[in-house]
Amino acid sequence: MFRSARIAALMVAFASSIGAQAPATGAAPTTVAAAPSTAIKPVQRADSAPQGTLKNPYSDTDKAIVDSGAKLFSGASCGGCHGGTGGGGICPPLANGVWIYGGDDDTLFRLVTYGTQTLQSKGYTRKAFENVVAPMPAMGEVVGTDDDLWRIITFVRSLYHGPAECKLGCPPPSGEER
Ligand code: HEC
Repeated sequence: MFRSARIAALMVAFASSIGAQAPATGAAPTTVAAAPSTAIKPVQRADSAPQGTLKNPYSDTDKAIVDSGAKLFSGASCGGCHGGTGGGGICPPLANGVWIYGGDDDTLFRLVTYGTQTLQSKGYTRKAFENVVAPMPAMGEVVGTDDDLWRIITFVRSLYHGPAECKLGCPPPSGEER
């Protein structure tokens, strides 16, 4: 109870800070590196790509990308909930082998962009439970561009310390088709 009350309070505080920072002009407050000219808003990207087709163009062995993703992660206040290195804090950890809706690039991009409520309205269901069960706010307007979000996801990938086979989502139990 105490925990979810804290998360709720944080989300309210968060929502008001988003309102203050991001006027309707859609300015991107957190861009640290020049985004490619093809970059568009995360919501536009997610809305225009068929489900399952979004793919991270970056590798988490690319240190420059990971470093820029780390800056964007803290700039977008992800760490306020998930801890500065994705270990959990008051919200689910990002670095373990448990993926609530799936750990593939496409699902993570959409979860961060849309938040829990909209993601679920698009037919995604909870497959796994973490230590905290609470909705994630939509961050698509806080993260400036799809390119920024891929950098953030690359940083999250770099933090991973769960079982190797679960890095991009755990394989289904043997004998089942995916
Ligand atoms: C207000 C708190 C809050 C903020 C800010 C927040 N998240 Fe979350 N996040 C959550 C909660 C709560 C969940 C669990 C959602 C659910 O169970 O539906 C979650 C889930 C996730 C997951 C899936 C974890 C898993 O184990 O499957 C990822 C990835 C994630 N968040 C990334 C981010 C990123 C990147 C940012 C910053 C752009 C961010 N979050 C900002 C609260 C937050």
